[in-house]
Amino acid sequence: MPKQFDVIVIGGGPGGYVAAIRAAQLGLNVACVESQSYADPKGEVRLGGTCLNVGCIPSKALLQSSEYFDQANHAFLMHGITCDNVKMDVTTMVRRKDNIVTQLTGGIRGLFKKNKVTLLVGHGKFVPSPKRILTTPSGTSFEGRGFPEDNPRENEPWQIEISSSGGNETVEAKHVIIATGSKPRHLPGVPVDNKIVCDNVGALSMESVPKRLGVIGAGVIGLELGSVWKRLGAEVTILEALPDFLAAADQAVANEAWKIFTRKQGLNIHLGVKITKVSVGKKSVSIEYENGDETATLECDKLIVSVGRLPNTDGLGCEGVGLKLDERGRIAVDEHCRTNLENVWAVGDVVPGPMLAHKGMEEGVMVAELISGQAGHVDYNTVPWVIYTHPEIAWVGRTEQQLKNDGVDYRVGQIPFLANGRALGQGDTAGFIKMLADARTDRILGVHVIGNNASELIAEAVVAMEFGAASEDIARICHAHPTLSEAMHEAALAVDNRPLHF
Ligand code: FAD
Ligand code: NAI
Repeated sequence: MPKQFDVIVIGGGPGGYVAAIRAAQLGLNVACVESQSYADPKGEVRLGGTCLNVGCIPSKALLQSSEYFDQANHAFLMHGITCDNVKMDVTTMVRRKDNIVTQLTGGIRGLFKKNKVTLLVGHGKFVPSPKRILTTPSGTSFEGRGFPEDNPRENEPWQIEISSSGGNETVEAKHVIIATGSKPRHLPGVPVDNKIVCDNVGALSMESVPKRLGVIGAGVIGLELGSVWKRLGAEVTILEALPDFLAAADQAVANEAWKIFTRKQGLNIHLGVKITKVSVGKKSVSIEYENGDETATLECDKLIVSVGRLPNTDGLGCEGVGLKLDERGRIAVDEHCRTNLENVWAVGDVVPGPMLAHKGMEEGVMVAELISGQAGHVDYNTVPWVIYTHPEIAWVGRTEQQLKNDGVDYRVGQIPFLANGRALGQGDTAGFIKMLADARTDRILGVHVIGNNASELIAEAVVAMEFGAASEDIARICHAHPTLSEAMHEAALAVDNRPLHF
């Protein structure tokens, strides 16, 4: 008799482990299946998925170390602090990052224990079951969700086969939550060895600072990891296919970021390029590309390929059970993360929406609560975005271009950090806060921050938007002085043309 659970979660990343913990908190008998994608030096599987192992957490650790190095070299001087001969020991930096990963991934194991979530190590896959394939009585494929109402098999458990080096095991559950995440997209003909040509995995573990670093893709990873190695002394060149820089961000923020990254920080970014050939040698790589009518070649010692990520449905057995994918290979879900199969849910990077850890975690909580009969919900309009460059970039809600395209009448309040006493004291006045509010109702529609600590400042805007606040609400809230948050206050006042300090 196979082991029985109320819920089986496939994937132990932020979407999966949070779903498992929340479902267990709600009294359900839960197992989480995690493959051996990430293992510690002893070979023990590591939870936390991309985020904890090779994503959010290690990248932010390196960003912090490299930021300190950069400050010691360039920013301390204005405070009267001289640091001669500042050195970076890359091995120590990388070891610190690895220790943080060990600590946090171990922490999730502890949380599983505390919440009585069963960890099943191995690759999870739906057992194809002819009984469960969705077919109409006439035998044609059934496109709707779940089974026809009178289908007596509706309550039969799903079977998941778990394969590992130790053998195969089949387990059963009424509900399955798929949280298998994503993997880096590679370019055809550009093999990634994570030594010379790296994706996020190799880019987070370089053993020394490359003299010349090439990056394909000026997206979030390209900018964050390009910044890390640039601060440590690499000459960084980023090649981006799109003609626009940071197309998803508000145009004013993208323009400001462009100026700072290229002119002040010296990142070489080429937009609108077409990569034509990548030749990998033993110690270097050469990238040929077209830039308008010109052709050029970039020679570098290492290359990071960061051109987006793909949903991970490899070997999940989708076809055998009739699980529907969308045109981009993501698992098709409704706004409550329900798939086309009864009691099968999917969350995180493997479903449409931004590939962000916090979005996956919220979906995990929603699904666990829906399974246990509660009213789970995610407001996709208030999912914040953060890019951890320096200055940081963060936003929530719609951009000015989107409001224009949507024909919304809006008002804008924009305040530079240069007018903020705390920013001046910190010696870090780059950037601004821009608030967009509905011209008729004053409801906040979007907030865009570029500046020091934007990642923390955006939280106030998220809370405000979740509560349906007007810019006037923020304008009438007492903000501590002197803090960077006063710029949020002033931006709200500026929506009504009455900033006090600008
Ligand atoms: P994942 O984290 O990818 O986890 C999926 C898990 O499922 C993996 O552990 C995998 O081994 C396992 N798995 C897959 N298939 C199976 C199977 N069949 N059986 C068993 N197990 C399986 N997001 C942010 O919000 N903030 C950031 O600062 C940030 N920084 C990032 C930096 C980098 C370099 C990268 C690459 C990503 C970053 N992200 C960031 C994105 C974030 O990591 C992802 O959005 C998040 O990890 C997605 O969570 P998930 O649970 O959906 O999937
Ligand atoms: P991305 O989607 O952010 O950026 C990829 C970039 O590569 C795009 O600008 C795209 O136009 C460009 N590109 C695609 N094909 C190309 C080609 N052939 N030649 C040149 N340029 C090309 O993807 P990225 O940076 O790989 O990150 C993946 C995801 O991971 C992000 O979308 C994000 O969801 C997540 N992430 C989030 C972070 C955060 O929240 N701070 C940090 C890092 C990653």
